[in-house]
Amino acid sequence: MPTSHKIIIDTDPGQDDAVAILLALASPEIEVLGITAVAGNVPLALTEKNARKICELAGKPQTRVFAGAIRPLVRPLVTAEEVHGKTGLNGPELPEPTMQLVDEHAVDFIVRTLMAEAPGTVTLCPLGPLTNIALAMIREPRIAPRIKRIVLMGGGFFEGGNVTPAAEFNIYVDPHAADVVFTSGVPTVVMPLDVTHKALTTAKRIAAFRALGTRVGTATAEMLEFFERFDEGKYGTDGGPLHDPCVIAYLLKPELFKGRECNVMVETASELTMGMTVVDWWGVTKRPKNALVMRDIDHDGFFALLVERLGKL
Ligand code: BDR
Ligand code: CA
Repeated sequence: MPTSHKIIIDTDPGQDDAVAILLALASPEIEVLGITAVAGNVPLALTEKNARKICELAGKPQTRVFAGAIRPLVRPLVTAEEVHGKTGLNGPELPEPTMQLVDEHAVDFIVRTLMAEAPGTVTLCPLGPLTNIALAMIREPRIAPRIKRIVLMGGGFFEGGNVTPAAEFNIYVDPHAADVVFTSGVPTVVMPLDVTHKALTTAKRIAAFRALGTRVGTATAEMLEFFERFDEGKYGTDGGPLHDPCVIAYLLKPELFKGRECNVMVETASELTMGMTVVDWWGVTKRPKNALVMRDIDHDGFFALLVERLGKL
């Protein structure tokens, strides 16, 4: 099958980030040019290590992993150990990685890659706070028109927030970076909580990963069992939301998702609603449409895709 997507995954693993990385590395339609780590769910020293652990779990130690921003642009770092555990990847016992980080800053890698590849051929897939992406845009403004599109997990509108009543974690952690990205003019697809809260890791779905009978299948089941316990307690659901793999699934099967083009702005002034994604879903302003905001997912199709692809690793 020919490669149809060249991507950079920007990430803060995180069990759900890990499953997104596994899905991308398992998919022949996707060429992962590099994985750039950012501080988010846990500090950078852990997210970059976790990214390497997952590449090795996937049997792809040749994947290039870069370390990026150690903290958000303006605000202090907020982490989410209560959700992801102390390491960010609690659940399975994964060996310390032997593959090395590439000796180049993630932001330099993003800029260099976008300037070297043909314009309109590289998709950015941010799965964490948008610090690295914003820094790259600020450092080299010529990259924005060269980006094919950004497909990101972040925000929430009808569903509200998950870290404050108004804000979703990735946008809340670095709202100023999110503002840079949403005002960049780059075509952007948003997977908000409105979608991801419909993609639940039910006991039956976790059993399907375990039934693969592979290291990846078992580790995925163990990651998700740890990851879901926090949100199951919070929302009273069977399973927790599997956020970040929605980004990669969209590249592979966009028909799994439904949404509409809207204007999205990010709150950076009010402490009460800091990091809120204000989505003009009903078109009540004249603000230009800057994002395709998803709202629905074929969740059975999504999990079927995940099991099928992770089964190849
Ligand atoms: C997002 O925050 C992180 O905890 C998850 O990895 C996901 O990217 C969900 O709000
Ligand atoms: Ca994430």
